[in-house]
Amino acid sequence: MSRADDAASSAASAIDSGVDAGPSRDQDIQGHNLLQAGPESDEASTDTDEGYADSDASSFLSSILSEVRRGVEIEGRLYPTYGKHEYGMPIDEKELDRNDLQHHKYTLLLNDRLFIAPISEETLNTASNHILDLGTGTGIWAIDMADKYQAEVLGVDIAATQPPFVPPNCQFEIDDVEEDWPYRLDHFALIHGRDLSMTAVRDWPRLINQARSHLQPGGWLQLASTIPDIHTDDNSIPPNSGYVEAGRLYFEMAEKMGTPLDAPRKWAEQMRSAGFVNVQDVVYKLPMGPWPRSKRLRTVGRLEQIMILEGGFEAYMLRGYTQVLGGRPEDLQIILALARRELRDPSVHTYVHYHVTYGQKPQH
Ligand SMILES: C[S@@+](CC[C@H](N)C(=O)[O-])C[C@H]1O[C@@H](n2cnc3c(N)ncnc32)[C@H](O)[C@@H]1O
Repeated sequence: MSRADDAASSAASAIDSGVDAGPSRDQDIQGHNLLQAGPESDEASTDTDEGYADSDASSFLSSILSEVRRGVEIEGRLYPTYGKHEYGMPIDEKELDRNDLQHHKYTLLLNDRLFIAPISEETLNTASNHILDLGTGTGIWAIDMADKYQAEVLGVDIAATQPPFVPPNCQFEIDDVEEDWPYRLDHFALIHGRDLSMTAVRDWPRLINQARSHLQPGGWLQLASTIPDIHTDDNSIPPNSGYVEAGRLYFEMAEKMGTPLDAPRKWAEQMRSAGFVNVQDVVYKLPMGPWPRSKRLRTVGRLEQIMILEGGFEAYMLRGYTQVLGGRPEDLQIILALARRELRDPSVHTYVHYHVTYGQKPQH
């Protein structure tokens, strides 16, 4: 079947990634409402035209920059302050470590690939071509792409959590991807967005339409994310599962935040509606522990397990549980403790779906 034929297929192709248990289970800076006019008279201030003295300008800028960088603290975790909407996950050191671990996990799950959209090596190795990474986080994907290929990589995020020393063909900017994009039209060869369905993006059709406008003809958009409802092929989810309850709360909270967690299931259709061709939705089984038979997937499962045991659940749920659902942090900890116990149990063989959805802007 040609790729054009593939585009006609609307069904997601679930990859059987060999996930079966083995015999030996080793197992406001936005402040929209704050925009008020100041006094009209010049006498009101001895400052310059801009409303602040020259000598204060740099401290004004640095205090804004430091606010963007510093974020706001809630229940001991740090969250970004920049952006049109509130983002549900933290941006502190702990989260950045988790972000990097996730990168290794996803790359391994894709068989050591940074993306699966069928874009040519030649395109990526043309220095005049451009790649955009939306919600780049620590920039780890963008940096790996810039190391591997010659195209210029731009990573954008609402938080300045990227390292200062990067390959010469990689740069980072602070941007809210839910706003109008300030980039050139028909410009990028590849636009990539990973793990943005978890309380980062609300209006996917708008984002997908913007991506189409900013891709060069023939360019590719690839979106990827996990949907955190658990599955099992051998009925090994325990009754009264803590994980199922945590998942239920997480879906409820994300729904209330306007970022439904099942958004990836709609991406393929939204891409087709936006005029993309050769659209594919590839669904991987992501094991939630080191129970699969395949060595590669055991490692993926181990990384998923470590990610969750080391605070992944908390990262996903703390802000929403306390601020959106009005729950108490200590109650959340009880539910999560139950879920963590299941995760360590080698007789529980659960997995989540990781969607990788890509599409191409037509050549003409
Ligand atoms: C879970 S992290 C994923 C990071 C990266 N894409 C990866 O896969 O390694 C989500 C990132 O999206 C950023 N983010 C959230 N909302 C955003 C928005 N509206 N515009 C730009 N970035 C956003 C967060 O600051 C965070 O760094």
